[in-house]
Amino acid sequence: MTSGTMLYEGKAKKIFATGHPDQVLQYFKDDATAFNALKRGTILGKGVINNKVSERLFRLLEQQGVPTHFIERKSDREMLTKKVTIVPVEVVVRNVVAGSLAKRLGLKEGEPIHPPLVEWYYKNDALGDPLLSDEHVRLLNLATPEQLAQIKRLALKVNGVLQPFFGERKMILVDFKLEFGVHKEALILADEISPDTCRFWDQTTGESMDKDRFRKDMGRIEEAYQEVLRRVCG
Ligand code: TMP
Repeated sequence: MTSGTMLYEGKAKKIFATGHPDQVLQYFKDDATAFNALKRGTILGKGVINNKVSERLFRLLEQQGVPTHFIERKSDREMLTKKVTIVPVEVVVRNVVAGSLAKRLGLKEGEPIHPPLVEWYYKNDALGDPLLSDEHVRLLNLATPEQLAQIKRLALKVNGVLQPFFGERKMILVDFKLEFGVHKEALILADEISPDTCRFWDQTTGESMDKDRFRKDMGRIEEAYQEVLRRVCG
């Protein structure tokens, strides 16, 4: 299937052209990076899991009225999507204090956040994806104020759909990162939603079930990804 020209290679995915000008193929790799690629490794089977988990979540979100780039999962590691121009603003939604928020503001990990916090980060590896204010987004001309408002509304809607979905599966959706793109002048959800891009804590044990196990060398990384797949798609 991956016979078209490679258009882009990211840290966890490759994007290929297809016979259709408005569609591309996302190929999910097992490569894992952290800390702006200072740390590199492999999580065996991750690409297959992230592809299947993303498919399930994109289908769910579409059903709930969130437009996404998802068209069809083509194989274990390949997903056919609409071709978008990515908005270079990464959107993070947080329900519980963790990660860089705890570090930056000296907050205690595990404290609930009501209402959820929405943050912008500049999708720019050379700069290490810095935190942005609305005015920084305007200064850099990364998105219009209308796009930013729409992205925020959609990101909170995604949170409203995913929080109960994971709750039913005995997982706490701590936080997650989304990317949006423009397709035929419409803003749609793109990229992936997976244990690479979300924090999940087991509701019973509080254990991390996501890429934090890789970032922090916690062990049993593959098992955690398999368990997410089982709970989400099983
Ligand atoms: P953070 O606490 O490190 O800022 O991460 C917030 C959320 O965003 C977390 O669920 C992991 C996700 N994330 C990515 O998907 N890509 C990234 O490059 C980073 C830094 C975080």
